Amino acid sequence: RIAYVNGRYLPHADASVHVEDRGFQFADGVYEVIAVYKDQLIDEKGHLDRLERSLAELRIAMPLARTALAQILRRMVRLNLVREGLVYMQVTRGVSPRDFPFPYAAMPTIVVTARNKAFPGREVKAATVITTPDQRWARRDIKSVALLPAALAKQKAREAGAFEAWQVDGDGFVTEGASSNAWIVTKENVIVTRAADHNILRGITRMAILDFARENGFKYEERAFSVEEAQNAREAFVSSASTFVMPIWKIDNVAISNGEMGPVAKTLRDAYFDAMD
Ligand code: PDD
Repeated sequence: RIAYVNGRYLPHADASVHVEDRGFQFADGVYEVIAVYKDQLIDEKGHLDRLERSLAELRIAMPLARTALAQILRRMVRLNLVREGLVYMQVTRGVSPRDFPFPYAAMPTIVVTARNKAFPGREVKAATVITTPDQRWARRDIKSVALLPAALAKQKAREAGAFEAWQVDGDGFVTEGASSNAWIVTKENVIVTRAADHNILRGITRMAILDFARENGFKYEERAFSVEEAQNAREAFVSSASTFVMPIWKIDNVAISNGEMGPVAKTLRDAYFDAMD
């Protein structure tokens, strides 16, 4: 395997960044995860747009032109023989002696890794979620590498045998999953997902799903929903670059279906695969 670090393509085992990288010491950096399917980078433009926006919000300079970044992603897919899997890209503010304010002169650190990972196909077994208090910071729209609250929530999910941990705000409303956006379909067949403000990450998959929902004539609302509303919903699912549309059949201890994928989730998952095939 090959990793990309600051302009160099290195054997994965030898790839490293400096001990005083601000990503390491302050989580002062951002990242993107892009799916590779049938040799294609899925939703590449959306992910690069969001990378640029996350960097701008943190006043980190875009380290390379977009065309150069896109070339690196492609080369990493090729060098690692990735046919189906994930590309990970991280940019930090760079290396500087430890001090909280921004360094006057630091070059951003860029790291890219890529690996094969088979995705479940169109037909997928529904998964389960637990709910946990949302303990993340107030700018979840920035895809920062400060993922400790997400890691703690995911560990809790794993220990409960669940696929994802839905994050619940102080008012009892679901913000999103620890690494995915959260969706329900009401008994009236309305698709609901939280509005994309500072409380959630504006998922690239989420935006594609909203397009597919429009194209298929589904009604949808971008608004908050409570855990209770979700437990009384007809369907639930999560979305992310690594899951596309993943149906959910159980929320905490409440089963909302018999474990089958619901018709709306199926239509949207099929739409995703139709667009990629
Ligand atoms: N996570 N919300 C959060 C908190 C996320 O971390 C992610 C993605 C999403 C979905 O965004 P997108 O559709 O653009 O992947 C929503 C990635 C996959 C990860 O951390 O591995």
